[in-house]
Amino acid sequence: MDLFEHQAKELFAEYGVPVPAGKIATTPEEARAIAEEFAAAGTSRVVVKAQVKTGGRGKAGGVRLADSPADAEEKARRILGMDIKGHTVHKVLVEEASAIAQEFYFSFLLDRANRTFLSICSVEGGMEIEEVAATKPDAVAQIPINALSGVDRAKAREIAVAGRLPAEALEGAAELIERLWAAFVDEDATLVEVNPLILTADGQVKALDGKV
Ligand SMILES: Nc1ncnc2c1ncn2[C@@H]1O[C@H](COP(=O)(O)OP(=O)(O)OP(=O)(O)O)[C@@H](O)[C@H]1O
Ligand SMILES: [Mg+2]
Repeated sequence: MDLFEHQAKELFAEYGVPVPAGKIATTPEEARAIAEEFAAAGTSRVVVKAQVKTGGRGKAGGVRLADSPADAEEKARRILGMDIKGHTVHKVLVEEASAIAQEFYFSFLLDRANRTFLSICSVEGGMEIEEVAATKPDAVAQIPINALSGVDRAKAREIAVAGRLPAEALEGAAELIERLWAAFVDEDATLVEVNPLILTADGQVKALDGKV
């Protein structure tokens, strides 16, 4: 079963993986009320994100930044009801906007052909990984995971280094990758993908998107 982004992020949070704070709205008025709560707590910029089980939401106009609660209402009004690749948008995630310094790609998956688990990590994130693999194959690391030994902090660090993540993101990414492995195993998942995984302006590593 696929999860919506907001469900994937709730799961990540249970495992201690840093994600932006956010809430679900099914009407523009609800989106405004959520943005007002963020504004009252000191965060005026939010991102309104279509919740559909398909990629390419950003490109389709289903992910929009809002500068104020009124703007969040307006953006939600535009996104709710949209059709994205045959999926109608019935709910939006209203979350705090992150100050993005860099976007990376990370995933764990079941490699059926080789009967093993695989991790894919790249310093080039935010866009589709197939595209990156085609244009910059050297920037995409594929690391097999031994199912018995799994992913400890050292293995997680090896994955982040292989993906050429910058030095300032390594520790945060390794911690996040180790925690994602626990989620992947406990949930019997066949895919856990974070695109983008980000480094924020203040040096934190966070999951900005989630596919499980
Ligand atoms: N909370 C946020 N704060 C700031 N920017 C965000 C936030 N969430 C998403 N974005 C920006 O929007 C982009 C697209 O978001 P996301 O990856 O969640 O959607 P997507 O469906 O995978 O979109 P696409 O496939 O078109 O890239 C991100 O790469 C990021 O630049
Ligand atoms: Mg994405």
